[in-house]
Amino acid sequence: MKMVLASKNPHKLTEMEAILSQLGIEVVLESDVGVDVEVEETGATFEENAALKATAVMKATGLPAIADDSGLCVTALGGGPGVYSARYGGEGLNDQQRYQLVLNGLSGQLDRSARFVSCICCAFPNGDRVEARGECPGLITYSPRGEDGFGYDPIFLVPEKKKTFAQMTAEEKNAISHRGVALQKFKVELEKYLNGTHQ
Ligand code: IMP
Repeated sequence: MKMVLASKNPHKLTEMEAILSQLGIEVVLESDVGVDVEVEETGATFEENAALKATAVMKATGLPAIADDSGLCVTALGGGPGVYSARYGGEGLNDQQRYQLVLNGLSGQLDRSARFVSCICCAFPNGDRVEARGECPGLITYSPRGEDGFGYDPIFLVPEKKKTFAQMTAEEKNAISHRGVALQKFKVELEKYLNGTHQ
């Protein structure tokens, strides 16, 4: 079976391929099947945004389509940046300016609790959906730590590991990250669906 990944990010393709090749599924990018769908992420939740993207690409290609949506939710910021993580502070900012905005927002704040969330949705042409959600709880640091990773990684501390995401190797991060957890759950749910045991 062929599935389209509703993303232009080859890094996400590699991650999905690693999981879905185990189920005999071939994953291709939108560009491989000649479409380029612009979807406005207007949903109020990660689940809604993942479903919006997957459904739009499924309709454009006629193939099952997979999309994900993720972000950082900080308790003392009312759950923000949340679904606005990628564009927090406006389109013109870089990753460093964005995480600095989070640090500034938490100035003097003792509650540093936060979580990364990742939601994956596969939309099928018959209207069925397979979905999975992964979360990784942690704390926002007082200053950035670590050189690796992207986005908010340098300010997201996983207390049990005593490291930020930016101080972990890709393997260390994938084993506990919101996306790693969501991908593993997604694999289980998709396998159930394909075997006809999905609820
Ligand atoms: P999207 O899921 O590709 O729409 O992007 C969500 C945004 O959330 C990214 O642009 C990052 O700013 C942030 N984000 C999601 N996952 C991670 C992560 O693992 N590390 C750091 N930032 C992340």
